[in-house]
This record gives sequence, C-alpha cells and structure tokens, in this order.
Amino acid sequence: MNSNSILQNNPDFDCFKAQLSEKDFADISKFIYAQFGIKMPPIKRVMLQGRLLKRIRELKMTSFTEYKEYLFSKEGQDKEILQFLNVVTTNKTDFFREPVHFNFLNDAVLPDEKIQKPGETFRIWSAGCSSGEEPYTISIVLNEFHKNNPAFRFDITATDISSQMLDIAVKGIYAASKIDGVPLEMKKKYFLKSKDPANQTIKVNRILQANLTLSYLNLMDNYSFPNEFDVIFCRNVLIYFDRETQEKVIRQICTQLKPGGYFFIGHSESISGMNLPLEHIKPTIFRKNN
Ligand SMILES: C[S@@+](CC[C@H](N)C(=O)[O-])C[C@H]1O[C@@H](n2cnc3c(N)ncnc32)[C@H](O)[C@@H]1O
Repeated sequence: MNSNSILQNNPDFDCFKAQLSEKDFADISKFIYAQFGIKMPPIKRVMLQGRLLKRIRELKMTSFTEYKEYLFSKEGQDKEILQFLNVVTTNKTDFFREPVHFNFLNDAVLPDEKIQKPGETFRIWSAGCSSGEEPYTISIVLNEFHKNNPAFRFDITATDISSQMLDIAVKGIYAASKIDGVPLEMKKKYFLKSKDPANQTIKVNRILQANLTLSYLNLMDNYSFPNEFDVIFCRNVLIYFDRETQEKVIRQICTQLKPGGYFFIGHSESISGMNLPLEHIKPTIFRKNN
C-alpha cells in the first residue's frame, strides 16, 4: 500500500504510515534551499514529513506528491508558499535572549558618539525577528535610553519570512510565562497583564510598538532599505543556511550597515574565516570597517 491510498482510505492511521518519499523529500529540500537558502539535510526527512502531514490534511490532499506538485505550481507559489514557510521554519525566541547583546547595546553602542550623532535617527534592524520578542527587547533598551536622553530618536525595523510569526509579533500578545525572566521593573512598565484571570497572557505596551515596523523579508532576496542601519541583529538565523549561503546573506546584510555600525549574530553561530567587511569586537559582535 502506498502513502496515497493510506491517506485516502484510512485517515485515522495515516500519520503513522504515510511516508515522504526520498524523491519528494529531495525535490522539496532542493526547492527550500534555492528559494530561501534553508538547508534541509536527509536527517530532517521525518521531521518535515510530520510537519507537512498536518498541512496536507488541512488542504484535504491525498499524498505528499500531490502537495509537492501544488507547491511548485504557479497557484501554489502564490497561495501556499507562506504556509509552507510556516511549516519549515523553526522560530524559537525569547525576550532578552542572549542578554550580553542587550548589555553591549546599552553600555557600548548607545553611548558611542560616532554611532549616535545629534539630530540623526538611530536605526536598528532585527533580521529574522520571529514572533517579535527580539525587536521588543531592543525597544525596551532604546526606550530606557531615551528616558535619560530625551533628544534620542530611533527606528526599529524587524523582518522575517514567516507570516505566522509576524502576525504574532504585530499583535504583541504572549503567554505570561514568556516574561518570567524579565526584570520586575520592566515588566510593570512595558507589559500589560490580561484582566481575565483565566487568560494567562500579557500584551506589550504600545510604547514598544511606536517606533517599530514589522514586515516580510527573505534574506535570500535582493533587497535594499532606504537608509543604512547603525546596528543589525541577525541572531540564530544563519543556522538555517550552509556556509556558502551564510556568507552571501551576511555580505548582503553588510551593504545595509553604516561604516562603523555593529553586527550581532547568535552565540551558537560563527562567521570566522569568511571574507566580510567586519571587524571582530567580542564573540558574536562585529563592527563594519570604515
Ligand atoms: C530561531 S528564530 C530566531 C529569532 C531571533 N532572531 C532570536 O535570536 O531569538 C529564526 C528566524 O529566522 C527566520 N528565517 C529563516 N530563514 C529566513 C530567510 N531566508 N529570510 C528571513 N528570515 C528567515 C525564521 O522564520 C525564524 O523566525
């Protein structure tokens, strides 16, 4: 019995038996790599199979091959691609994740006169922002700095390829446990608790959203922002790409960074040995050459 007939005839049993064939997996992983730079080695076949099965059921399709053909079709490219990305991306994130970076931003970057020129807007980009915890954390740091430096103006740009994650980011509503590690003073100031005791959620204060723009951006595309950034965070995104793609993606990111601007990557990532216009400052923190 092949996976088609199983899905069709025995929907209660399909998740245990339906198989993403090696051929379909190879075609899909080639596609993800070409379009989004995301590497999907054979070891991830079962993971992808599990994640796609849910989507196949929602679409009332009968096989992985049918899904693949739909995905590659013109209609699929228009209608399914965002859903597909929601399925294949891993979006783990947190408020104040890797706090060393936020301390560095506050203690070294913001007071740097070369970065922050009077009258100019400080511009920062969270590339691969997932559900928004990273740009909201940046917003907390910048709002706190603004409190003591009223002339300070800033703009935060946050982008991702996952529409599902961007929707969460735009709403700014999270499980209350998400801010367990946030200092109490910041919790009180920047988050609102739901009034309904049965609803254990918090919402970010509107002040955190005031200078923040959230939008879709595929780091594999050719893109250009109207102004260069003073700081770019691209943390825990490179892990998706192979080394060659990482270098290509960062080279393009660097074109959007001001000379002397700062670039942050995740602590499990490395760009050493790559030919990039960046000077190493501290582990995972770099500065663009002048
Ligand atoms: C693990 S999350 C990291 C979130 C946050 N930067 C952090 O460190 O907490 C990685 C994010 O990268 C996004 N991503 C993966 N490939 C991408 C691409 N080609 N272009 C833009 N974003 C991408 C995923 O959708 C995901 O939300």
